[in-house]
Amino acid sequence: MVRDLYELLKWGPTSANSSPARFIWLRTTEGKAKLAGLATEKNRPKILEAPLTVIIGNDLDFADALPKLMPQNAEATQKAFAQPGMSEVTAMRNGSLQGAYLIIAARALGLDCGPMSGFDNAGVDRAFFAGTRTQSNFICSIGYGTPDSVFPRNPRLSFEDAGHFA
Ligand SMILES: Cc1cc2nc3c(=O)[nH]c(=O)nc-3n(C[C@H](O)[C@H](O)[C@H](O)COP(=O)(O)O)c2cc1C
Repeated sequence: MVRDLYELLKWGPTSANSSPARFIWLRTTEGKAKLAGLATEKNRPKILEAPLTVIIGNDLDFADALPKLMPQNAEATQKAFAQPGMSEVTAMRNGSLQGAYLIIAARALGLDCGPMSGFDNAGVDRAFFAGTRTQSNFICSIGYGTPDSVFPRNPRLSFEDAGHFA
């Protein structure tokens, strides 16, 4: 099912097909305990009690994969991403989109999601992404919630509150 989830989320678009998100699918007790130790107290049980918690990271070296991801224009695109600040902003924008695709894909498959940003990013990077240029963005617990374990849904902004025609 986790592979099915990836097969769905991978089709969400990213700029120049850059696909900078990297996913660590934590399903072992040890892995979840290691992550929970780096999370805020309130978030710990949400990690430990879920069957799966995903760490979504942004790979700042994402352009290395462009020969595979954009074979028709890899070299020119790599040059553009080598401009100062470009890889950071591109990785954050598109990695966050891919994290959102993960949530939407999981919900489409009938799963519940608990996205969380309450954790020590630098600690998670040291513990899970050592030796890489991948930086943690957010984490997301996934499973089948119960009325006790998922938040009641709060209202959202109306169409008019959130925007306008122009
Ligand atoms: C990037 C992100 C970070 C979040 N961080 C936390 C968190 O640290 N702890 C938590 O309990 N919920 C966290 N949430 C959950 C949101 O509060 C929740 O998704 C939001 O209120 C919408 O509710 P819904 O999940 O019912 O749609 C986070 C959500 C997102 C998208």
